[in-house]
Amino acid sequence: MKLKVLVVAGDGIGPEVTAEAVRILRTVAELGGHDFEFRNALIGGAAIKAHGTPLPESTLEAALESDAVLLGAVGSNEFNALPPDKRPEAGLLQIRQALGGYGNLRPAFAWPSLAVNSPLKPEVTDGADIIFVRELLGGLYFGTPREWNRETNSAYNTMRYTRDEIVRVARVAFELAASRRQKVTSVDKANVLETSQLWRATVTEVAKEYPGIALDHQYVDSFAMHLMNIPRNFDVVLTENLFGDILSDEAAVITGSLGMLPSATVGGKVNLYEPVHGSAPDIAGKGLANPLGAILTAAMLLRHSAKLEQDALAIETAVRKVLEAGYRTADLVRGESKQKLTTQEMGQKVFEALNEI
Ligand code: NAI
Ligand code: MG
Repeated sequence: MKLKVLVVAGDGIGPEVTAEAVRILRTVAELGGHDFEFRNALIGGAAIKAHGTPLPESTLEAALESDAVLLGAVGSNEFNALPPDKRPEAGLLQIRQALGGYGNLRPAFAWPSLAVNSPLKPEVTDGADIIFVRELLGGLYFGTPREWNRETNSAYNTMRYTRDEIVRVARVAFELAASRRQKVTSVDKANVLETSQLWRATVTEVAKEYPGIALDHQYVDSFAMHLMNIPRNFDVVLTENLFGDILSDEAAVITGSLGMLPSATVGGKVNLYEPVHGSAPDIAGKGLANPLGAILTAAMLLRHSAKLEQDALAIETAVRKVLEAGYRTADLVRGESKQKLTTQEMGQKVFEALNEI
């Protein structure tokens, strides 16, 4: 199996966690006799420093020539004074748009051995296994016009969706549900927003193509509460860009840490894989970052871009074994007297576990 992966590690903890994910992918290649090729390119603050732009043309070209793009995180406090379209984060929005993936898959899984780690009670998190399907190319993040008018001291963004944008991402959700527990929860704010009314009507229509899948609709505000109260009630959660961004971070509470969450973006020319977390400037450069979100992202890459399901499962099993053995990075230690591993040490534990599978 041949696979060309572009690695855009980005800023802050991005390079630290990505290095561990790449190491795991190299291990899978070695163990399975696969030919994975890795190229590196700049994005975000690192790219602004080197090229004056958060997404250099060379990065984009390399991305479009690859089979998959593995991204770390972007964002740096150094650039906080810049307008949104010049900041490192603009590079992320640009690469997402250029690659064209519209279905952002964000699993939130309650690892049994991390139950004590969640601020929620174990009986609440027990059995939670959710996958968010977040629409990634529409809504407020991309809608135009948009402006901060400093003279009038007012600002606005545009929330826009078309039926086609909703249909295609809804299909991703229903297809996924078919391979899981046959349930889609669509989250919107149809009592207030026109975009949500279109969303609800369209998702209801798409559901008719999937008679075996149960669909229910929830308002985003009450869903946010149910997510913390009864997470195991949800299977596939389909929602628009901004709601998905917020709710999937909220779901980190179920898993124990933001550093545990992987993601994959599908549907475009080249799939994009990135952990859910950002560049975490507060812990960058200290070896404190949890690499498991990035490593689980590597598993998603194998699953969705290489169709190497067994290898994806092997990585997930290795992570489970490492957690069961009690190994923790600092973010996963909650009032326990566990020894804290550095980013690299945690990567090493997964590497060892993978070699034993
Ligand atoms: P963040 O996700 O970087 O950090 C939030 C909190 O979680 C911090 O306390 C951080 O230390 C912790 N955390 C995050 N990942 C962790 C990991 N792997 N291990 C241990 N702890 C972890 O979000 P924040 O602080 O709101 O944003 C920081 C920068 O990242 C900003 O510039 C933001 O725009 C950017 N960002 C980038 C994203 C991306 O590249 N996909 C996504 C979210 C934010
Ligand atoms: Mg986010």
